[in-house]
Amino acid sequence: MCGIVGYVGTSKSVEVLLGGLRRLEYRGYDSAGIAVIDPDGDLHTRKRAGKLQILVDDLDLAAMANGSTGIGHTRWATHGGPNDQNAHPHLGDDGKLALIHNGIIENFAELKNELMEQHPETVFTSETDSEVAALLVGLEYQRVGDLAEALRLVVARLHGAFTLLVLHKDQPGVVVGARRNSPLVIGLGDGENFLGSDVAAFVEHTRRAVAIGQDQIVTITADAVTVTDFDGAPVESEEFDIAWDAAAAEKGGWSSFMAKEISEEPDAIANTLRGRIVDGAVRLTELDPAASTKPGSAASAGLDLTGVNRIVILGCGTAAYSGMLAKYAIEKWAKLPVDVELSHEFRYRDPVIDASTLVISVSQSGETMDTLMAVKYAVANGARTLSICNTQGATIPRESDAVIYTHAGPEVAVASTKAFVAQVAAFYLFGLHLAAVRGTLPKEEISDLLDELQALPEQLATVLEQHDAIKQLAGWMTDTRAVLFLGRHAGFPVALEGALKLKELAYIHAEGFAAGELKHGPIALIEPGQPVFVVVPSPRGRDSLHPKVVSNIQEIRARGARILAIAEQGDAAVLPYADVVIPIPLASTLFEPLLAVAPLQIFAMELAAAKGLDVDQPRNLAKSVTVE
Ligand code: F6R
Repeated sequence: MCGIVGYVGTSKSVEVLLGGLRRLEYRGYDSAGIAVIDPDGDLHTRKRAGKLQILVDDLDLAAMANGSTGIGHTRWATHGGPNDQNAHPHLGDDGKLALIHNGIIENFAELKNELMEQHPETVFTSETDSEVAALLVGLEYQRVGDLAEALRLVVARLHGAFTLLVLHKDQPGVVVGARRNSPLVIGLGDGENFLGSDVAAFVEHTRRAVAIGQDQIVTITADAVTVTDFDGAPVESEEFDIAWDAAAAEKGGWSSFMAKEISEEPDAIANTLRGRIVDGAVRLTELDPAASTKPGSAASAGLDLTGVNRIVILGCGTAAYSGMLAKYAIEKWAKLPVDVELSHEFRYRDPVIDASTLVISVSQSGETMDTLMAVKYAVANGARTLSICNTQGATIPRESDAVIYTHAGPEVAVASTKAFVAQVAAFYLFGLHLAAVRGTLPKEEISDLLDELQALPEQLATVLEQHDAIKQLAGWMTDTRAVLFLGRHAGFPVALEGALKLKELAYIHAEGFAAGELKHGPIALIEPGQPVFVVVPSPRGRDSLHPKVVSNIQEIRARGARILAIAEQGDAAVLPYADVVIPIPLASTLFEPLLAVAPLQIFAMELAAAKGLDVDQPRNLAKSVTVE
């Protein structure tokens, strides 16, 4: 949600800002704008509702082109509709100051009333909370004459979540930013510096980045970067290298980012495992004491697992479904009770957690506000915290005791695909690590399971070879109004994920069910011709649920359902009852989801594409959900 870019240097800032905003488009937005200070010290702003190209077509390049200080914004509407007036930047100090904002200022109505009382002459040009912040910073600037100080005085009065960037025509060559519970990262260049909602904003210019902590203010000029806390005290920040280059976030010949990202799933798993399996055992050095992710925390304790008697996994959407698989794996391998909870439900129901609880948050972006707030609640209540995250320098890992980064590479398509399989791989590594620490599995068994895990990328590559066949199936189903997805045990989260993908991408009503639940109600939905995807477990294995799922298939087939089965190659028991079988290679129960999910992702993507929809940026959705 909302993309933010700031630049000070010697290049034409318009080009840097538009390039950055283009790379941030994936976050989801409905209007865009930029502000640039030209070489004569004049401030120019332009903002337009709609896609970035509408803004580009409307830019007054003659006036702006040579300015080398600027800020740019893509807005995802919260306060006020997506129109030109509500788009950012907003102005303060009689049009001399421009401000952009991501997040929600919760006390903005109160601040606006105060402003109207004390300055009745104030003219508001938008319905946004952001404009109130711009006006307030403008007033403080008139008083103190320094942009960083003015911003510092205002943020001290704001409640809620925000990233703010400001510039002022009287301080050309300076951009100041502030953040609380909302992302902001610095990019370090040579004679130029950048700010961005995430590193995608500037990765084409530099791969050196600095994460900004909670409640901090940053000032960039062409040659210097200064970071302070909200009290103005200098703070030390950690620099890191961005692990991927600009090309990784390009489509590279694929029809969509999503098609490319699904094709990268084998690599996402392999890269997440790489270096973390040594001599048949898991090696997660990031859990060692020295690797604590909490900046300035004396709790450089890493992740001490001694005495942990319970795990709570927090996430939203697709990430939460990866957590469901983690529950099954950790309970089976490490014999610890695991609860999985949607982050946004967690902190509002007085959950019982304490120092013996390990709270694991899972988030591709590392910025999901619901998950961030849940993690903060866990920290405040004394729990130990581990983050599973795909984005370096993101907020959630920084708030946690330790992080296991997934190495899926940048995920640009709004709906998550490759991040899911990488999350599951990371969870499985952690589950096997925990089993070793707790002595709940013999070494040989851990080693065998790790071998299976390492074989998955190659197996998954063979599943992806069926892309064209699945595309053809999707092409036949463009008129479908509803699709059901069934699975049991490890197949259940896959069913939920398959349904979520179809809703998000193809706007088709879809529901995922635990197959055993069907007869308790949802079977009433089955009527002749109703398509039902069934994730069929392997027929092998002592405790296989295979016969039960085959019975579930028969029950719905008897009522006219059209069965689309994802089943193990050569599973003869399913063939007589399925209209379509998508075969997957043999894998044991907990590993099957990593093979079964891709066909459902491809199906949803291809059905959406066949309906002429934008699979990378589905309507109403944002990649990084930075509001609660
Ligand atoms: C679904 C999807 C969302 C995200 C959810 C959490 O395709 O992308 O459900 O999984 O918003 O996002 P992260 O993982 O960034 O916390």
